[in-house]
Amino acid sequence: MQQPTKIAPSILSADFAKLGEEVRAVDVAGADYIHVDVMDGHFVPNLTIGPAVVKALRAHSAKPFDVHLMISPIDVFVPQFAEAGADIITVHPEAGAHLHRTIQLIKSLGKKAGVALNPATPLGAIDYVLPDLDLVLVMSVNPGFGGQSFIASQLEKIRLLRQRIDKLGKKIDLEVDGGINADNAAEVIKAGADVLVAGTATFQGGPNAYADNIRRVRGGH
Ligand code: DX5
Ligand code: ZN
Repeated sequence: MQQPTKIAPSILSADFAKLGEEVRAVDVAGADYIHVDVMDGHFVPNLTIGPAVVKALRAHSAKPFDVHLMISPIDVFVPQFAEAGADIITVHPEAGAHLHRTIQLIKSLGKKAGVALNPATPLGAIDYVLPDLDLVLVMSVNPGFGGQSFIASQLEKIRLLRQRIDKLGKKIDLEVDGGINADNAAEVIKAGADVLVAGTATFQGGPNAYADNIRRVRGGH
């Protein structure tokens, strides 16, 4: 069943020169998860942060760290992010040869497991692993950068995924990531999402604006 909307600010849009402060600021401003975008310059054309930074940030918030891995190979790094303090570890099916094995690895480390679907990746990619998952992330932009525009074709994928999750009757987060703002959030929630990633929309206007920014994406005014 669709849960009340959670907001997961992506720290990709934070001020990297003061990342600890930024994480504390979105925590206080009402973030439900802290979304950490990990990119390797190989699976996606951008480089961001690694496990050492996740570990350093851990002390700055008790909220779940929602770690989105856009890296390949994948299995060799999963234990490092688990050790660093990730709570949810999300991987792309294209990042490794054996998705089922990667999911079991995440769970064996006591972490919640997520799978991220690129805009062109069909829902069928998770047909045989959905019951094992704690989260499915629908990418509404191509992974690699913040500040891109929402790809509307993903709304149908969100609707179909909502039906599958409800049919299964398990508590699985349906997270949507990319180009979400106060103007399109309601439509994404209506389609069935219960976790919204928001990078640009959260971190605009400086720390004093974060609470209002989060409230607006969640559906307030
Ligand atoms: C893209 C990342 C997203 C992105 C979200 O590869 O996974 O989390 O940074 O940023 P906005 O909200 O700016 O699209
Ligand atoms: Zn992300």
